[in-house]
Amino acid sequence: MHSDLFDLTAEAEMGHIQLSRVADLIVVAPATADLMAKMAQGRADDLASTLLLATDTRVLVAPAMNVRMWDHPATQRNLAQLRADGVLVVGPNEGEMACGEYGPGRMAEPLEIVAAVQAALAEGPLAGRHVLVTSGPTHEPIDPVRYIANRSSGAQGTALAAALRDLGAKVTFVTGPASVPPPDGVTVVKVETARQMLAAVEAALPADAAVFAAAVADWRVANAAGQKMKKDGSGQAPALQFAENPDILATVSKRAEGPPQLVVGFAAETETVQAHATAKRLRKGCDWIVANDVSPETGIMGGAENAVTLITATGAEDWPRMGKDAVARRLAERIAAALG
Ligand code: C5P
Repeated sequence: MHSDLFDLTAEAEMGHIQLSRVADLIVVAPATADLMAKMAQGRADDLASTLLLATDTRVLVAPAMNVRMWDHPATQRNLAQLRADGVLVVGPNEGEMACGEYGPGRMAEPLEIVAAVQAALAEGPLAGRHVLVTSGPTHEPIDPVRYIANRSSGAQGTALAAALRDLGAKVTFVTGPASVPPPDGVTVVKVETARQMLAAVEAALPADAAVFAAAVADWRVANAAGQKMKKDGSGQAPALQFAENPDILATVSKRAEGPPQLVVGFAAETETVQAHATAKRLRKGCDWIVANDVSPETGIMGGAENAVTLITATGAEDWPRMGKDAVARRLAERIAAALG
């Protein structure tokens, strides 16, 4: 058996085995810290790592390891690299471990892995389509320890990415520091600032559709301090200067190489929602705007529900108030119908 494995490795290295034709999805469960490190580095020194390097089939990993191995910066670095390479990740969960310790690192339950496989293999109206979603707030530094942020939880963008994935899309999810975890089965790119978000979005293009659900800071601090700012006893408050951030939605809508077939923006307004959002659609140059009223009394920002108006070139449609998941499913279906 041992020598058979090495024969197979050698065959694979010589290109005699068409590993990429074998399956639609390769599942690595459990994915150890060591195997994840090899995958992140592109090593091929045993059968498993060779198979994983010699394929262009999508890969789903279910990490399982001791909590400190999981928390180790090296593992987190490898994980980020794998996600950036499009590897799908399910789990790990938090709980009691085989070694008797407690924390994140327990392999996802078999049924969770099955759900992730089903999501990855989902055939649906968006199968073969690439959809980009931005989500969450951005953080704009004032100094190394302070930043300007907003109240976006990332819930609507996360629900949307999951709904698009469930319709079969390959989803790239570019997210600021959100308070809800990103969905499984999508390629996650984590950023902090608006400028990082723009760079990540440009790197993820081309896409068939792009949905901009992030609450991007319009301004960044132009005179952010390199060191932590200190009180100097004079009673003088520091004067922050602001510079305008790039408008990611407008940049992509007007991109010279051609925008995605469908570009969807969000408009969070606190008054005359429809009029403002209609003007915003034209100003930004996007196809649709999903407008909502985020006045504090609506409880929408950070809440579980949303009440939106979909604004297209042909008019405005008020949707009843419903859960953010339901809004996401309905919007994903509309996107699928529009892409045809
Ligand atoms: O101008 P406003 O912030 O209201 O526009 C909201 C829409 O524009 C959202 O879709 C948001 O994700 C997007 N946006 C962006 N980059 C910015 C500001 C907003 O992509 N700098």
